[in-house]
Amino acid sequence: MDQALASKAAPGSLEAEIANRRTFAIISHPDAGKTTLTEKLLYFGGAIRLAGQVRARGERRRTQSDWMAIEQQRGISVTSSVMTFQRDGVTFNLLDTPGHEDFSEDTYRTLTAVDSAVMVIDAAKGIESQTLKLFEVCRLRDVPIITYINKVDREGRDPFELMDEISEKLALDVAPVTWPIGMGTQFKGCYNLRDNVVLKPKKDGAGAFDAEERVNGIMDPKLDDLVGDPALMEQFRSEADLASTALSPVDPVAYREGHLTPVYFGSALRDFCVGDLLDGLGAWAPPPRVQPAEPAPVDPTEDKVTAFVFKVQANMDPNHRDRIAFTRICSGRFKRGMKLNQVGTGKSMAVQAPIFFFAQDRDIAEEAFPGDILGIPNHGTLRVGDTLSERTDVKVTGLPRFAPEILRRVRTGDPMKVKQVRRALHDLSEEGLAQVFKTRLGADWIVGVVGALQLDVMIDRIKAEYKVEIGFEGSPYAAARWIHGPRDKVEEFISKNSSQIAEDNDESPVYMAKSAWELNYTAERWPDLTFGVTKELV
Ligand code: G4P
Repeated sequence: MDQALASKAAPGSLEAEIANRRTFAIISHPDAGKTTLTEKLLYFGGAIRLAGQVRARGERRRTQSDWMAIEQQRGISVTSSVMTFQRDGVTFNLLDTPGHEDFSEDTYRTLTAVDSAVMVIDAAKGIESQTLKLFEVCRLRDVPIITYINKVDREGRDPFELMDEISEKLALDVAPVTWPIGMGTQFKGCYNLRDNVVLKPKKDGAGAFDAEERVNGIMDPKLDDLVGDPALMEQFRSEADLASTALSPVDPVAYREGHLTPVYFGSALRDFCVGDLLDGLGAWAPPPRVQPAEPAPVDPTEDKVTAFVFKVQANMDPNHRDRIAFTRICSGRFKRGMKLNQVGTGKSMAVQAPIFFFAQDRDIAEEAFPGDILGIPNHGTLRVGDTLSERTDVKVTGLPRFAPEILRRVRTGDPMKVKQVRRALHDLSEEGLAQVFKTRLGADWIVGVVGALQLDVMIDRIKAEYKVEIGFEGSPYAAARWIHGPRDKVEEFISKNSSQIAEDNDESPVYMAKSAWELNYTAERWPDLTFGVTKELV
């Protein structure tokens, strides 16, 4: 539809720019091949020349500050970034999501800023726990998924078994696009069932594919010459025939509605079916969608620019206390210098130095369109969840804040450094790394995180960036819940439970329960109130 839409829209018009944008993320379990695939997508998208650059750049960046060392030690990717590239007239914005489950909160927010996702699965492992979790977030947000089954150059599970697993575990129809010709030691290439193109490995079996040959369907005798293994060809033909007849064809509408996933078998390391995947994204993935907002959803074609901040990263450059607010454009044509209202605060800001992120560079963005991600440097004025708009009456909704599962009391060593600690906790909380609650009585700081690794990151960053050492100790609380309900009831509750009330960064009241039992008991005794697991960011 979008190619059609794009061809109808006047070149350079807002409609044409929208139709040509694909903003997506890659979701996977650690080690499935997300980094490798990212790198190869950038390579096929012409954004990098040599494979290996993403990693090399990552390593350089990692040496920049102590906390990045955690990433290195544990072999996980903590930061997330944005990479823009173009192919065949389509602009792709790839949002990197941190792969480790400890950082799921950040990942969830990143998924609020994409229109579709690529799910990478290891052919030997199938669907793993983290993939499933992230898939569920995508489903919740109606984000359609294309599946890439990676590492077919290694021994993997039977392709039909993998297809069945996706179909059963995710309740999706599966539509094969590329199919492997053998796997592991038997691997002889991949076949594009729609285009009838075969990708053939080099003779010595190493490195990237050698040739891309168009054939006349799976029965074409040319295939026998190309593959040169009669027994394997027989097996491939029967599999490909079954795959084409028994499984669904790609139905773009069913895909966009979240009922079907196109499936690519490939090898990111050896370049198999990475170009095919990009073609699929260009052809089927949805362009920027209507954004949930109040008082009404925001349509990307609206004249007025509306955008929202889904991530804030502080201290990207350790020499400057800068913060970058990652901001997704939802509607309109953004121009540098434009004045946008920070809705809800009554403030407005001229966006003078917005940044586009490429694979290796950043550049000043002169113009941006719906689906694009701008980095807006600021000194702490912009926060996750903020709406920026030419309008004053719109608020983008749907960015959740999660109740932390781990609560710890902050231990500060040096009483002279309380101010720095307060500043550091405030900053990191605004960045979304952790939630910080200040108890009303006793004035303890309680830090809440979704995963334990975040605590280590906080200690390291506060030491590196604020020059203060902090530690964490057990807290008497087991759960923090936002209190919602009629104002008088909330006030009554707070006054009767003052020893267990804290405030979050926005001064919203939070009930600190000492056990799950106490939480249930309290909820039963106060039926007019709800004790929220999430708080929508405002
Ligand atoms: P992640 O970001 O999802 O955690 O995965 P990453 O890309 O780092 O890949 C994990 C490992 O799997 C890496 O090996 C990578 O080389 C390998 N890999 C990725 N794609 C393929 C593929 O298509 N085929 C094969 N055979 N291997 C693949 P490593 O030994 O852990 O790291 P490295 O030393 O190669 O960097």
